[in-house]
Amino acid sequence: MSVRAAVFASGGGSNLQSLLDHEVPDGPYRVELIISDREDAGALERGRGAGREVVVISVMGRSKEEVEAETLETLSAHAIEAIFLAGYLRLIPGGVVRSFPRRILNIHPALLPSFGGKGMWGHHVHEAVLNSGAKMSGPTIHYVDEEYDRGTIFAQWPVPVLPDDEPDDLAARVLRVEHVLYPLAADHLCRALGAGEEPAPFAAPGGAFATSGEFSAAETADLIRRAFERS
Ligand code: GRF
Repeated sequence: MSVRAAVFASGGGSNLQSLLDHEVPDGPYRVELIISDREDAGALERGRGAGREVVVISVMGRSKEEVEAETLETLSAHAIEAIFLAGYLRLIPGGVVRSFPRRILNIHPALLPSFGGKGMWGHHVHEAVLNSGAKMSGPTIHYVDEEYDRGTIFAQWPVPVLPDDEPDDLAARVLRVEHVLYPLAADHLCRALGAGEEPAPFAAPGGAFATSGEFSAAETADLIRRAFERS
């Protein structure tokens, strides 16, 4: 039986789409529900298009307690077992974090613990990476706790920063890898949850790969898949 997953998203939802596209019948997870804080989130359209339940839980002007209670009720009504944050810009209420220990993942578009925390989202992240002179960036998937971008790291994949990069170039290069890494990480977590085990640590790539920008999208996908297989 697939683990029943919810995806939380505030934006366009390309990561949600990659999670939906990766699903197979009776696979490790199935996205049963999409939750957004914004009526106009593109992610909701994608969810509806895929025939999934979508729920807007607004946060503006409401107390933490109210948002927490509505979120917990909605998750329970859909018997949700795991949560994937995909471009969700709000803090997850503490009660939700405590009800889903090691069952909530987030994807961040830089190599945490650097370039994370409050205010570090979207182009701000990539601008900060470029301004720092870092030669490497890449997505991080981490467990979610009660602070932004602080939970234990679950998987990372390095992506080179190239000399003439503008923030949009780097964002696009990292996003292509996000779309491969997140569904495979979701599989990895949900396989372990289904078996009642802790997921094995992710076998990150060696230094040779980390310094090369020469891999095509298909080759990168294949390398990431093999890293999860070794895990
Ligand atoms: C991604 O870059 C993700 O790393 C970050 O927010 C962005 C969401 O993009 N958390 P999308 O809505 O999935 O296209």
